[in-house]
This record gives sequence, C-alpha cells and structure tokens, in this order.
Amino acid sequence: MNSDRTSPWIRACKTEDLKNSNPLDFDYEDKKILITNVDNRIYATDRICTHAYADLSTGFLNESEKTVTCPLHMSIFDLENGKPLNLPAEEPLKTYNVKVESDWVWIMVDG
Ligand code: FES
Repeated sequence: MNSDRTSPWIRACKTEDLKNSNPLDFDYEDKKILITNVDNRIYATDRICTHAYADLSTGFLNESEKTVTCPLHMSIFDLENGKPLNLPAEEPLKTYNVKVESDWVWIMVDG
C-alpha cells in the first residue's frame, strides 16, 4: 500500500474494498490493524486480542452491536472505543482515527 511519510495518515485501502462488510487486514510496520465497515462507518482497531494472541480478523463481527468477538476465548470488543465488554480480556484494543478522501480510507497510525 502507498503511504505518505510526511504525515501520520497512511492510505490503507479503497472504500470499495470494505463494501461487503468483511473485515480487512492492514499491516503497517509493526502494527496489525483490523478495518471494518459497519453501516457505512469505518473503524480501525488493533487486530490482535489484548488477552492472548488471537487474530480478530478470524473472529466474529456483530454489525448491529458494532463489536468484534475474539475467536479464542470469546471476549467482545467495542469497535468504537476498543473496550472489552466481557472477560477474559481486560485491556482495550488500540483504536485509530480514520478518514475517507477520494474513495480511499486513510488511517492515522501515530498518536
Ligand atoms: S485471546 Fe482473545 S479473549 Fe483470549
């Protein structure tokens, strides 16, 4: 993917890549990010569960609740703020600011 290194904003994917509501994996440097489109709102969070090592892209997206469920021990994370809604996970996922410009999804990877 292209990036603009003079800015914290990284071009991640085309908006059309998110149209079928399947989560999209995006890796940038050491970051593993999960991009989701729920009701035409795009969210970006860390993709690795904060409890143990499980990739949330293989978890379960609940569009009506705007959550993703970890496939390993079933903690549920709020896509908006990354907070776990049940145990065993206790730490929130990092969330990233997202913007859309000219049909591209940009993620702020710093800050
Ligand atoms: S690894 Fe996700 S809840 Fe345990």
